[in-house]
Amino acid sequence: MYSIIKSFLIIVSIMVLILLLLGLLPNFFYFVHAQNCSTCVESGNIWCVESAECNDTFSSCQTQISLQLNCPTLPNPKYAYDDSFMRTQQLVLASASHCDNPQRCFDSQIPTIKVLSVRTVNCSANSEEVTCMGYTAYDVSRKIIILSFRGSKGPYQNQQMADGMASGGLLNYFGHSGKIFKLGYDYFQLLWNGGMQQDLRSLKYKYPGFELWINGHSLGGMLSWVASSYLVTSGLYKPEDIKVVAFGSPRLGDYDFSVWYTQTFPYSYHIIHRLDLIPRVPVIDPHTNTTVLFHPRTEVWYNNYMKIDDPYQICEEADGNYCSAAVTEGLTMTDHGYYFNVNMPAWGRDGCPQNISDYAQL
Ligand SMILES: *[C@@H]1O[C@H](CO)[C@@H](O)[C@H](O)[C@H]1NC(C)=O
Ligand SMILES: *[C@@H]1O[C@H](CO)[C@@H](O)[C@H](O)[C@H]1NC(C)=O
Ligand SMILES: *[C@@H]1O[C@H](CO)[C@@H](O)[C@H](O)[C@H]1NC(C)=O
Ligand SMILES: *[C@@H]1O[C@H](CO)[C@@H](O)[C@H](O)[C@H]1NC(C)=O
Repeated sequence: MYSIIKSFLIIVSIMVLILLLLGLLPNFFYFVHAQNCSTCVESGNIWCVESAECNDTFSSCQTQISLQLNCPTLPNPKYAYDDSFMRTQQLVLASASHCDNPQRCFDSQIPTIKVLSVRTVNCSANSEEVTCMGYTAYDVSRKIIILSFRGSKGPYQNQQMADGMASGGLLNYFGHSGKIFKLGYDYFQLLWNGGMQQDLRSLKYKYPGFELWINGHSLGGMLSWVASSYLVTSGLYKPEDIKVVAFGSPRLGDYDFSVWYTQTFPYSYHIIHRLDLIPRVPVIDPHTNTTVLFHPRTEVWYNNYMKIDDPYQICEEADGNYCSAAVTEGLTMTDHGYYFNVNMPAWGRDGCPQNISDYAQL
């Protein structure tokens, strides 16, 4: 009897050991790889990605890393990028924010999604014509709550944003998590206090445990980063219950913010189309002209028209002279409007019709 128990215990211990090793081994290798670049830049040196060498200077090295944030890393496979998910779901959600009645987009494209409420606020310092807009929606069949923010609209909003970034600069809002544009925080707060807070709270109360998708195009993507940061630091949501997707968004914060955001949110993608100008700006805080700005991870760059089956690059580095930012010539606003070969503002405004050929770039 005693020997049976003993063999049983030995077998169980071996199984536990195998499971532990299986679980830890990939992490271990990942750690060793990242550690080389990390320890290298931590010691003040430069890491060369192609040759996997650490030195204080390189005579010839294509991809040089000098910041921890940019050490090559791919997203956790558990939160992997899925082109079809972005194309069929997130594109519709972000385009719908350009529609006065976003429900039209869902009735046309994803009928299981229902809009709870659309909130529009005056977010300008000097004109009631300039507004910020966001909506909340939900999908009971797939257990999702959605928070989406519209991009800038009309001829004045971009200029007002540039002015607002320059006058307000960067401030610290979320504890030890770096600084973001005061403008971004203010816009979000106006929407949050303008009704989004009660909308989201009532959805969360009614549908506890639903996953939260936060997204937006352009300014809307920037507001998605503010909203997710706010929801997590205020304890309303856990980062692992949130999927954040931004399309072609301007930089929001400094290095510390981008490090914090990257470490906090396991599912955060920033999709960039070809030569879209907007995600390349601003480079520095225009209020002081000193602090350098960074995007949080993970950039996905489509250097093409984003048609079905077009290739894309999941950027292993975060923000620097890599991926989309390596190209500085020929940047254009045209590529800003088109994502997945659809003119997002126009398609959204028309209620996301099934036939997209009138909205294609090519
Ligand atoms: C490493 O740095 C030294 C100078 O500090 C230089 O002579 C050498 O060529 C560098 N190595 C590479 C691979 O560039
Ligand atoms: C809304 O617009 C008016 C100008 O009509 C402006 O004075 C006011 O500051 C704006 N409100 C906000 C919250 O920005
Ligand atoms: C920052 O640089 C821009 C462009 O050179 C300039 O117009 C602006 O006045 C500068 N701002 C500060 C605070 O120095
Ligand atoms: C889609 O729209 C285009 C242009 O309006 C038209 O030529 C085409 O026949 C339409 N396709 C379908 C499948 O309805």
